[in-house]
Amino acid sequence: MATGLAWVTLLLLLLCAMATGDEGDQETSVSASFVFGDSLVDAGNNNYFNTLSKADMAPNGIDFAASGGEPTGRYTNGRTIADIIGELLGQKGYSPPFLAPNTTGSVILNGVNYASGGGGILNGTGRIFVNRLGLDIQLDYFNTTRQQLDELLGKSQAKEFMMKKSIFSVTIGSNDFLNNYLLPVLSARERARLNPDDFINELITKFRSQLIRLYTLDARKIVVANVGPIGCIPYQKTLNGVKENECVGLPNELAVQYNGQLRDLLAELNDNLPGGQFVLANVYDLVLEVLTNPGKYGKNRFARFEILLNLLQQTVKAINQGFKTSSYPCCGDGGQYQGYIPCGPTSSMCDDRSAYVFWDPYHPSEAANLLFAKYIVDGGTKYVSPMNLRQLVQL
Ligand SMILES: *[C@@H]1O[C@H](CO)[C@@H](O)[C@H](O)[C@H]1NC(C)=O
Ligand SMILES: *[C@@H]1O[C@H](CO)[C@@H](O)[C@H](O)[C@H]1NC(C)=O
Ligand SMILES: *[C@@H]1O[C@H](CO)[C@@H](O)[C@H](O)[C@H]1NC(C)=O
Repeated sequence: MATGLAWVTLLLLLLCAMATGDEGDQETSVSASFVFGDSLVDAGNNNYFNTLSKADMAPNGIDFAASGGEPTGRYTNGRTIADIIGELLGQKGYSPPFLAPNTTGSVILNGVNYASGGGGILNGTGRIFVNRLGLDIQLDYFNTTRQQLDELLGKSQAKEFMMKKSIFSVTIGSNDFLNNYLLPVLSARERARLNPDDFINELITKFRSQLIRLYTLDARKIVVANVGPIGCIPYQKTLNGVKENECVGLPNELAVQYNGQLRDLLAELNDNLPGGQFVLANVYDLVLEVLTNPGKYGKNRFARFEILLNLLQQTVKAINQGFKTSSYPCCGDGGQYQGYIPCGPTSSMCDDRSAYVFWDPYHPSEAANLLFAKYIVDGGTKYVSPMNLRQLVQL
């Protein structure tokens, strides 16, 4: 017992030293982070209306320290990628959900989260959940915040605050495919109406006008995530019954085609909107890399430190192995890859949560989010371009 305890203490001391080395060289930090998107980054907006897309039930949030492990509406076991990116960039606290009644007054000076599970670029996306906030509505809400900032800071200071001290992230598009175009039943009519080229053009056209609207409201440092390899999520793998080391073709092909046009769109906006800094987070390649080599990851210094802080709750063994699986979710049920039934109180849950890339049939675990966030903040141009977020903030 005594040796075990001493060993743990020594390990924690070592890790603290490592953490200081990692974070100590931060020169500039971001004041506010404004988060737009879907369930990948929702911090609890869906708690405030009736919808079939919800995550405010256990065991979601079980590793979220700020709530003591209580569910918050986040669709993962701990922090979302947006939470972690804010942390890495020196944001104070996490951007609170726009719809939370106490997101008022000076609270908004740290940023606000508008993201909503089930939401998409198109208004109709996610209608199977009955309610959700699509990107148009998220931008309406941001316009409200924008006017509140004018009142809090005065017009010219508010503008400066938007342009220089704030970062904007948009993580959206997966639902436009998964919960619209690719829906087995509901989208048959939609699909008959639109071939993939037309559908993707429609998405890009709509997204262009939405990003311009964000710019019009004085956003300048804007990071846009592309669509991940949605053919590799446990839900799609289960639905289509592919082999463990395979992904479903069509969803990934659609994502790749859309992502190519998104890259061009951001380049176009960078050329045409003075002072606009649109950064592409290449989540597709990043996630695919981890999914194809799960054992290699979960081992980088930063991720290991974070995971080891949960040492007393979880096992050391899992960490030193890297991710154990990228096919099965930690929490979920049904079918070959436990990919049909979302995570909830009656789900089966894995023991070593940090050893799973996926928390549930759709969403990454906190351990995976830590890894992805680190690459987007400090990584090279393969994963974030034309610059990483550390550089973007320092502009
Ligand atoms: C707002 O309320 C939530 C839920 O009660 C609480 O967890 C959070 O800390 C509050 N935020 C602020 C800024 O007071
Ligand atoms: C989508 O919703 C927004 C915000 O409610 C609205 O302004 C817009 O007209 C809608 N677009 C379509 C095509 O329904
Ligand atoms: C923001 O809201 C104001 C007032 O409702 C409106 O006049 C303006 O057009 C909106 N701006 C954008 C970019 O949505």
